[in-house]
Parts: sequence; C-alpha cells; structure tokens
Amino acid sequence: MSYIEIVDLRKEYIERRTKKRSHTDQEKTGDKLIALDGIDLEFKEGELVCILGPSGCGKSTLLRLIAGFDKATAGEVFIGGNKVKKPSSDSVFVFQQDGLLPWMTVWQNMELGLNHVSDEEEKAERVKEYIELVELSGFENNYPYQLSGGMKRRAELARALVVNPEMLMMDEPFTGLDFLTHMKMREEVVNMHEFIGKTMIMITHFIDDALTMADRVVVLSERPTKVKMVRVLDVQRPRNIEKDPVLRDLRDEIYLMLGVSYVV
Ligand SMILES: Nc1ncnc2c1ncn2[C@@H]1O[C@H](COP(=O)(O)OP(=O)(O)OP(=O)(O)O)[C@@H](O)[C@H]1O
Ligand SMILES: [Mg+2]
Repeated sequence: MSYIEIVDLRKEYIERRTKKRSHTDQEKTGDKLIALDGIDLEFKEGELVCILGPSGCGKSTLLRLIAGFDKATAGEVFIGGNKVKKPSSDSVFVFQQDGLLPWMTVWQNMELGLNHVSDEEEKAERVKEYIELVELSGFENNYPYQLSGGMKRRAELARALVVNPEMLMMDEPFTGLDFLTHMKMREEVVNMHEFIGKTMIMITHFIDDALTMADRVVVLSERPTKVKMVRVLDVQRPRNIEKDPVLRDLRDEIYLMLGVSYVV
C-alpha cells in the first residue's frame, strides 16, 4: 500500500498582472498561473524520495499541499489512506529554512518538538544527543540570531530530526551549508532513514544529493508542471556516483532534462 498518494493534483495561483495579456503565452489563462498541472505520484512507506525540478516549477507548492498547509485547486492527497484536509503536526514534519523560533534558544527550540515526552530526563538526553549530532554543543543557550547561517541550518535540521515524526518532508535542507557540513548532514539524513525507516520526501537543487540519497528520484518539468521522470535507484549505499556507471548516466540524463547539456 502506498503511504502517500497524490491524485491528479492541480494548483493554480492568481497572478497579479505585470504585463499585457498575451495570446502567445500558453501558460497563462487569464490571470492564472498554473503551478501544478495534474500530478500523480505515490510514496511508499519508509521510502526516501528526492524531487528535482527547475526553479519556480512548484516543488515547494507540492510539499505544502502534501503537508496540508495549502489547498489544491483540484486533485487529492492521501496519507495512510486518509485525505489530507489540514496540517497534521504529529505525523508530518516539514523542515524549512528559518523554522526556529527567534525568541527561543537552540535548546528551547529543540525541546519544542518533544512536548509529547513527559520524562524530563529523557527529553534532555534526546535534545543533547541531537545537538551533539549537528555539532552545536556549547551553543545550546544561543538564540538563532546568535548563530552563523550554517549553524542555524544545522539547528533546524536537528530540530526536525529530534521530533522523530512518521514522515519528514524537507524543502532544500542543505542550501547554504558549507561543503563539509553539507556532506555530513546528507550522511546523517541517509543514516536516519536507513535505521529508522521513515518516509521522507526531500526537495533539492543538488542532483548529486538526489542520486546519493534517494530510493527514488522524481523530476518535475517546467510550469505548467507535470512529472517528467520517476526512477527507482536500486543502488546500494554508500554510493559513489563517479564509480557507478548507472548513476553517472542518470546524472547526465537529469542534467539534460533540466536544460544543462554538459557538466563542467
Ligand atoms: N502564494 C503564492 N501566490 C502566488 N503565486 C505563488 C505562491 N506561491 C508560489 N507561487 C508561484 O508558483 C510557482 C511555484 O512556486 P514554488 O515556490 O512552489 O516553486 P519551487 O519549485 O519551490 O521554486 P524554487 O526551486 O525556486 O524554490 C512560482 O511561479 C511562484 O511564483
Ligand atoms: Mg521552493
């Protein structure tokens, strides 16, 4: 059974007109901007799926619809067989940038996700564990504004991981991280996925992240957005794209699909 099912999902936004109505502009029908144009997708329980697509094609919109933060123009999303009508914070956690509450310290932000844990000692242990994981020990009492960009991202990721939700959705979680932290966080998410087996949907601009991490890669088209490619990656982890001809070929294929004809 699919854990998440997306059926013919469509999302239109009303556009504020900035230029004259054009008969040649196929995308616009009146003042509408079609972000998602009939998306059908399924996500299996425990699957890690990476979604790639051109900027502005509707990836964040898709996540928001799955999480119940926004309403689709048409179509439906089912999680565990139930139609999504509103956000469900205990089963779905959405990782996003600037997700930390600015008036709370790193420690307090982390604790927020553990409201359901009544044992204070256990709570403290878990917070400490995840703070260590993202190497923020010593900064527990800092407020978000007192962290560097990279540190903030690590705290945000730890905040998502500590909740241990049934499903984790991540919208470009590694953007803005330095190279080494990026690699480490990537490994951490994959490890967490392998050991805990949560369903994860991750949007990324990094094709290599998708190829290194995903059980399945989804590529979306330009607007009006459709699913352009779905590919299962039956490759053991840890993966090395350079040494794996299947991944290398797929990387070239995806680059081409996204409009880059060669990789420099
Ligand atoms: N609340 C909104 N109101 C009007 N238009 C919106 C709204 N949110 C998104 N859009 C439009 O919908 C399209 C898709 O936006 P979305 O943020 O989902 O794209 P994206 O694929 O996540 O882009 P990026 O890769 O740059 O993050 C864009 O053209 C955007 O301008
Ligand atoms: Mg986005």
